[in-house]
Amino acid sequence: MSYSAKLTNGVLIVEDDPDSAFLLEHRLKKLDIPVLEVIATGEMAVARVYDLSPDLVLMDIQLQGDMDGIEAAKKITRQFDVPIIFLTAHSDRQTLDRAAVSGHYGYILKPVDSRQLDVSIQVALKQHHLEQELAISRAWFQETIYGIADMVITTDTDGIIDYVNPAGLEVLQRDRKDVFGRKLGELMSIKDKHAADISGQILEGAADSALYRRDEHYINVNDPTDIPVDLTVIPIITRRNLVGWVLFFHDITQRKQYEQDLVRARDDLNAYKTELQHLSDHLRSVQEKERGNISREIHDEIAQNLARIRMDIQNVKKKCEEEELQTLNNASELVDETIQSVRRIATELRPRILDDVGLIAAVQWQVNQSRARDELDIELSYEPEEFSLEHEMAVDIFRIVQESLHNVTKHADASTARIKLQQTDREVIVSIADNGNGFEKDALQSASSLGIVGMRERARRWNGNFSVSSSPGKGTRIDVAIPDLSHH
Ligand SMILES: Nc1ncnc2c1ncn2[C@@H]1O[C@H](COP(=O)(O)OP(=O)(O)OP(=O)(O)O)[C@@H](O)[C@H]1O
Ligand SMILES: [Mg+2]
Repeated sequence: MSYSAKLTNGVLIVEDDPDSAFLLEHRLKKLDIPVLEVIATGEMAVARVYDLSPDLVLMDIQLQGDMDGIEAAKKITRQFDVPIIFLTAHSDRQTLDRAAVSGHYGYILKPVDSRQLDVSIQVALKQHHLEQELAISRAWFQETIYGIADMVITTDTDGIIDYVNPAGLEVLQRDRKDVFGRKLGELMSIKDKHAADISGQILEGAADSALYRRDEHYINVNDPTDIPVDLTVIPIITRRNLVGWVLFFHDITQRKQYEQDLVRARDDLNAYKTELQHLSDHLRSVQEKERGNISREIHDEIAQNLARIRMDIQNVKKKCEEEELQTLNNASELVDETIQSVRRIATELRPRILDDVGLIAAVQWQVNQSRARDELDIELSYEPEEFSLEHEMAVDIFRIVQESLHNVTKHADASTARIKLQQTDREVIVSIADNGNGFEKDALQSASSLGIVGMRERARRWNGNFSVSSSPGKGTRIDVAIPDLSHH
């Protein structure tokens, strides 16, 4: 492979013997390697490396002057990232040992052989390139781990710590030199979810498991309280060999706190909801009772009294003169109308028929009312002929039907409505469907619309299912299914 791809500038020769320098230059030219300069002293070499940025330095060990090649190489490598190959005439052990410690990239014996020169330069350039790449990837790794807010610890295969990042040192309340070479368990205790100390086993089996494990743990560093962490253990494996572990400790105190808060808030909410449901049940039953009472009062007291007044008028009419008769007739008519109104009001408050006869009769009555008032074609079907229900359940079902019919007449602009009631030995099923406008779900959000909310509540009271299906232009359908336990 040609050198032009690997060399950006060229090679610097440091050699004080002109014959050797000449030979070297000649050989390099043959290999097509550019020579930047030939320098005779160590001092000059240091200065020229700075000016020329060579890709490689070929350095004679024996140089004239105060600084020999090994000294010069030391100086250069301290300041510059450049590979240096030594040149030497004798291969005595002592010299070569000195050269070895100064971080060299090999040496070439003089007189220089062309083949050896080529191989040495190739190897030096390759090695230097790999070292640079390694340094870069190490820098990436270190800076990343350094900056992470979680505690990161790396260990060798025996679990001996070789690195803790700054965030980790803070958690451990220790200096770097204080943690190096120790075992995890000496710095903190690690407990599992059940508070069992597992500091000793934490790395056991980690290498066999897939790529990594993450679990909730607790750590404790000389503190009264444990710190909850998500602990990730990653085995570092190169060429199928385990070389160590990296452990990430992510503090989840905050998350735990939120989780607890959430659970508490949910409990509070549920308690509050139950309370509200009790309150609404109570209000509804009070309301029903009140309505019943008022209805009865109106019916029994006012309507009875009015009937008595009418009888009195009839009696007076027999004895009075012609001109007073007209007035009394008017009064009698008014009393009749009032009796009708009072009866209607009383029934609307609470149809007595519901209490006296039952659900089906009351629904029939309600259907007749709506038909008469709204010219709506209402189809009512039910099965069986009579329902046997707990009285309060009958009241709730009646109210659901009543409110549904009100909604049909108020909102739907429908021509027909279909009501179905069915009692099986397991449940009571009610459906009210119309062929009107229908509506969007948003219509239910209005704070002043409580009809459907009320229906749902009444069904819920009996552990029933309640659903409204409606879409614009397709009509509306209410479905209720209440488990009927009265037969069990
Ligand atoms: N059968 C229906 N056809 C068309 N729209 C309907 C029907 N039933 C309900 N809606 C729509 O749903 C909304 C909510 O109904 P809901 O019975 O809850 O309240 P409301 O009838 O508006 O008020 P109220 O509290 O007096 O019952 C209505 O305002 C209406 O827009
Ligand atoms: Mg309504």
